[in-house]
Amino acid sequence: MLKEIRKILVTSALPYANGPIHIGHLIEYIQADIWVRFQKQRGHNCHYVCADDAHGTPIMLKAQQEGITPEQLIADTWTQHNADFAEFSVSFDNFYSTHSNETRHYAELIYNRLHELGHIHSKTITQAYDPVKEMFLPDRFIKGGCPKCGATDQYGDNCEACGATYSPTDLINAVSVVSGETPIDKKSEHYFFKLSDFEVMLKEWTHSGHVQKQIANKLDEWLEAGLQDWDISRDAPYFGFEIPNAPGKFFYVWLDAPVGYMGSFKNLCDKSDLDFDEYWAKDSTTELYHFIGKDIVNFHALFWPAMLTGAGFRTPTAIFAHGFLTVNGEKMSKSRGTFIKARTYLEHLNPEYLRYYFAAKLSSQVEDIDLNFEDFSQRVNTDLVNKVVNIASRCSGFIKKRFDGKLSAQCAEPELFQSLINTNSEIAEHYESREYGKAMRTISALADKANQYIDEKQPWVLAKQEGKDEELHAICSVGINLFYVIVAYLKPVVPEMVGKAEAFLNISPLTWPDQLIPLTNHTINKFKPLMTRVEPDKLAALIEASKENLKKKPALHRTKKAKLQTTERSEMIEFDDFAKIDLRVALIEKAEHVAEADKLLRLTLSLGYETRQVLAGIKAAYAPEDLEGRLTVVVANLKPRKMRFGVSDGMVLAAGSGNEDIWILSPDSGAKPGMRIK
Ligand code: 2FM
Ligand code: ZN
Repeated sequence: MLKEIRKILVTSALPYANGPIHIGHLIEYIQADIWVRFQKQRGHNCHYVCADDAHGTPIMLKAQQEGITPEQLIADTWTQHNADFAEFSVSFDNFYSTHSNETRHYAELIYNRLHELGHIHSKTITQAYDPVKEMFLPDRFIKGGCPKCGATDQYGDNCEACGATYSPTDLINAVSVVSGETPIDKKSEHYFFKLSDFEVMLKEWTHSGHVQKQIANKLDEWLEAGLQDWDISRDAPYFGFEIPNAPGKFFYVWLDAPVGYMGSFKNLCDKSDLDFDEYWAKDSTTELYHFIGKDIVNFHALFWPAMLTGAGFRTPTAIFAHGFLTVNGEKMSKSRGTFIKARTYLEHLNPEYLRYYFAAKLSSQVEDIDLNFEDFSQRVNTDLVNKVVNIASRCSGFIKKRFDGKLSAQCAEPELFQSLINTNSEIAEHYESREYGKAMRTISALADKANQYIDEKQPWVLAKQEGKDEELHAICSVGINLFYVIVAYLKPVVPEMVGKAEAFLNISPLTWPDQLIPLTNHTINKFKPLMTRVEPDKLAALIEASKENLKKKPALHRTKKAKLQTTERSEMIEFDDFAKIDLRVALIEKAEHVAEADKLLRLTLSLGYETRQVLAGIKAAYAPEDLEGRLTVVVANLKPRKMRFGVSDGMVLAAGSGNEDIWILSPDSGAKPGMRIK
């Protein structure tokens, strides 16, 4: 019977282009990737697309902070994300960016259609505005005291101390995180998507098997409370797409983010023979699945199907939501070293340990998943290394040494082999329904069966006996054939390891093993360890290195730092005060440590016309030898100050947030010591 070949498009949520991928993200990419690999292994036409979510205020501000353009920032982040995904074997067919012509095209198309049909309207609203940065402030960029419990330094939308939610205008002593200034209220015209126009459609859609039960219940609460209009515009300055016929107004990042799924797929279509409309047209018969985290369900199960319906596109076949990742039972924490970046992980451990562990824990439910390091080591070591890899290592040596690498001419245990094959539909059902934990347990039971067979037959005993060669050959060949089936089942989860197993077995890439027949008279290659045990010291080093990440992280959006970026208006000086300062170029002739001083260096500065000794608190940032011969700027008319470690005759100008983050301001080349700075 011919198997029906399904046409499937799969997406994962688009990561923001302003930060690294971490293990909390990876749970989703690994979950979706396993599903996609499984579908492909079954012979279906499955396409997996993703992109960086490149727009919005945080990205614009981060680029400013780093002194680069948003385009540069998103290009750099894309490169890092792409490398991280590749090393975790997350096999997108296309990893693109929402800052693309394709996404712009579909965002405008959807908006224009919704607009034409009367689903968009505008109204003037009042919002918090930063008068110094001259920009409207998203809630996350306003901080102040919680109006309920008084806790200080809380974000504009909710209090981390007491959990209260409120509007930023309720905050006590609110400040802009961007400038440190007090926000003012300012009016502006915004564009809204009338979600309530789709209430009937959404009530029907959310109860037709497109979302998990738990999600449908949550959506019911929102639907019953009444659907609010959705604000889809943001004012300049904003990094995004300008709204057609609305100068200075941009699509809110969450409008074009899901459109990025289309953009990435369109880009893939243009590079291949895929037909965009076949997957997105209203009457499409293909399947479309979005893997997402439970926190972004409203965007995917309300706004997105409504937008698609309004604009005449198909809606998703299903939304697969997963829970959050906790580590050792707690929220990921930077101080405990459990906020682990993908890159840091890769520097210490095999990515397939994590793929396997997540698979062993994942189900179709929207439950949080706990990564427990002890459990992690134990499962990888026991299930994968001791059970699966061991089957091959126990049998391969005899085959290689005693039978020239050749498996027996017949399978001595066809029923045993077939019993493993017969489990294929059960395992396939588990994969299909995202019950990976069940799939791993079923596969593990097959590995137990294979090991029991070898334990009973004791090939190592036969190997020492005369005239038992044929039996030894038969048993070891059965062992290798059982391993052959087991690794085929594991291929969606640990593709690298299975790739090595394929090389060892000397076979072409494994497809789904429903039709697999035993390898007979077949020569295998020398066995090399396919996976080694988790080393406790490497795991410990990973946690330690993740703590380091925290120490090094610059305090980007901290209010205190933000305050340092602008001067309080009351502290401003008159021009005449400034004009009194005699700034001059100085050559650092000598730089030396000051005995017993933690922070100071003694600098001998040549101003050309005279030499000065200045004590500068920059030891954490510069070694003396790095400074000698460099030019800097000095306040030449500062009265000498007597300090604990000597007299300082002038002041060197440097900038930065402190400790290692201090930069001597070197004047442009061509400057000469003693030159006055005007
Ligand atoms: O929550 C997030 O990280 C978003 N960047 C996800 C976007 S998913 C999709 F809509 F693009
Ligand atoms: Zn509070």
